[in-house]
Amino acid sequence: MLASVWIVLLAVNIEAGDGQSVQMDSIKSGFVGSQVELRCIFVNSNPPVKISQVTWQKFLNGTKQNVAIANPSLGVSVLPPFKERVTFKQAAVRHRTPSLEDTTIMFSNLRLSDEAAYICEYTTFPAGNRENMVNLTVFARPQTRMTLTTPTIVARPQKRKMTVATCLSANGKPQSVIKWDTRLKGEATFQETQNANGTVTVRSNYVVVPSRETHKQKLTCIVTYNNERITDSVVLNVQYEPEVKIEGFDGNWYLDRQDVSLTCKADANPPVTVYQWKVVNGSLPSTVEILNNSLIFKGAVTYELAGTYVCAATNGIGTRTGLVQVNVTEKPMARGPPGGVLGVLGGVVAAGLLIAIAVTVFMVCRRQQKTRTNTDNDLTDLPPAHKPAPPPPKKRSSDLKGHLTSDDIQVLTLDKKLPLQPPYYDMVPSESIPFTNKPNSGHRDCDVQYAELDTASLAYSPSTRSSMHSAGDLVEYATIQPSSH
Ligand SMILES: *[C@@H]1O[C@H](CO)[C@@H](O)[C@H](O)[C@H]1NC(C)=O
Ligand SMILES: *[C@@H]1O[C@H](CO)[C@@H](O)[C@H](O)[C@H]1NC(C)=O
Ligand SMILES: *[C@@H]1O[C@H](CO)[C@@H](O)[C@H](O)[C@H]1NC(C)=O
Ligand SMILES: *[C@@H]1O[C@H](CO)[C@@H](O)[C@H](O)[C@H]1NC(C)=O
Ligand SMILES: *[C@@H]1O[C@H](CO)[C@@H](O)[C@H](O)[C@H]1NC(C)=O
Ligand SMILES: *[C@@H]1O[C@H](CO)[C@@H](O)[C@H](O)[C@H]1NC(C)=O
Repeated sequence: MLASVWIVLLAVNIEAGDGQSVQMDSIKSGFVGSQVELRCIFVNSNPPVKISQVTWQKFLNGTKQNVAIANPSLGVSVLPPFKERVTFKQAAVRHRTPSLEDTTIMFSNLRLSDEAAYICEYTTFPAGNRENMVNLTVFARPQTRMTLTTPTIVARPQKRKMTVATCLSANGKPQSVIKWDTRLKGEATFQETQNANGTVTVRSNYVVVPSRETHKQKLTCIVTYNNERITDSVVLNVQYEPEVKIEGFDGNWYLDRQDVSLTCKADANPPVTVYQWKVVNGSLPSTVEILNNSLIFKGAVTYELAGTYVCAATNGIGTRTGLVQVNVTEKPMARGPPGGVLGVLGGVVAAGLLIAIAVTVFMVCRRQQKTRTNTDNDLTDLPPAHKPAPPPPKKRSSDLKGHLTSDDIQVLTLDKKLPLQPPYYDMVPSESIPFTNKPNSGHRDCDVQYAELDTASLAYSPSTRSSMHSAGDLVEYATIQPSSH
């Protein structure tokens, strides 16, 4: 208990003896030309010590330089390089009996060379010297600007890269960062220069191949300085040769057609001043009239109009040509009649039906072939059959619709485990089928059925059937029966 009291007393004693301190900000910054306040407060002890003198010093590169001195009996002195720009903030410092507890200085019209550490030193009696330090940083706002290399850029056919714009951020401290924002497919070059006074100049060139596509494109330079964004935009003005195409020929110029014309369309900057027409290895027809950028053919179309027409468009940058080959036909070109859509629809339906039938038949054939290879091919010695003549093509789709309804196609699945029974064949009596139409091999069967879809050839002879179910395998079998015979 007694020991702890002693410790507390000791602590208070130490604080009382070492109680003076100099309070300052540790860092301070300002822009060139602006004013900063460098704080310096002396915290005295109780009982107070006596302040003999206060000295402000600039500390740079290991050397100290006096800035200002305040002395209770001699007054205040601000030294030459700082005389116009440094003052004590508190008027009491300059009084006849001054108060020197607050010796904060106002530093105005900052220069880059003012960047240094500043020491505020209190000389006291009997405690001796107390001091502290503030580091002053001086910033310089850069001059930022973007310039077009030339007001108008000319796109040359050689497609050479060139600097179209420059973005400059000069004499900044700290240094700026330049970026570009554009849809142009160009590239930027960057360059930075360190100045003797500590500032940095950053320059960036935007390089692009000028072309018709780069005309009117926006180019934005973004300069970031000290968390501050400065943007500047330009719109490129690119001059280029005419891009020419000839309109008006629709591929259907037939004899006696009236009022045909050709028009030379050119995209150009600056605009086209001269259009010239000619015909390759020939001359313009006598019936033609030239109106601005159009060729008007008076009267009816004749064979005389056929030929390759060339239009040459010229602007301040150059001349480019476009051409069109005009063919004249005797009759108007056949155009699909309005009913064409119906025809197409009908065709699609017919095609769908054909595919469905073809797939079914194909499946049947595959099964057949499979079973036949499993058994002795007793069909090879059948008399060779000739392929039946294909039906007239134009009647085919109606034939199919007429004879093959869904009831006519049956698919039977014979499971292996079921007792083998004579399968049911839903078909016309075999006598009604001429033997010569019967295919002689499995392969042929398929060809014929697939290709012709002839109802007669789709019926099988009894011998074909017996060979199929003798295999006793899984068999899918279709019979396609002509509904009316
Ligand atoms: C500071 O000192 C370095 C070498 O110690 C010297 O290169 C530099 O120029 C000095 N700067 C100033 C501002 O005197
Ligand atoms: C202030 O500057 C001095 C010397 O230039 C340096 O040693 C010190 O670390 C700096 N202090 C701060 C807080 O930047
Ligand atoms: C710094 O130096 C550059 C180049 O000498 C000069 O153009 C610029 O004005 C200077 N900046 C300041 C703030 O003195
Ligand atoms: C057109 O003229 C060119 C030379 O100008 C020649 O080479 C070409 O054979 C000619 N064609 C016709 C169809 O006369
Ligand atoms: C064609 O030229 C005439 C003058 O010759 C002008 O009045 C007219 O506007 C022009 N037409 C077009 C479509 O440029
Ligand atoms: C026009 O006729 C020429 C031959 O006279 C031919 O080579 C060309 O393909 C035709 N062009 C068209 C669009 O019919």
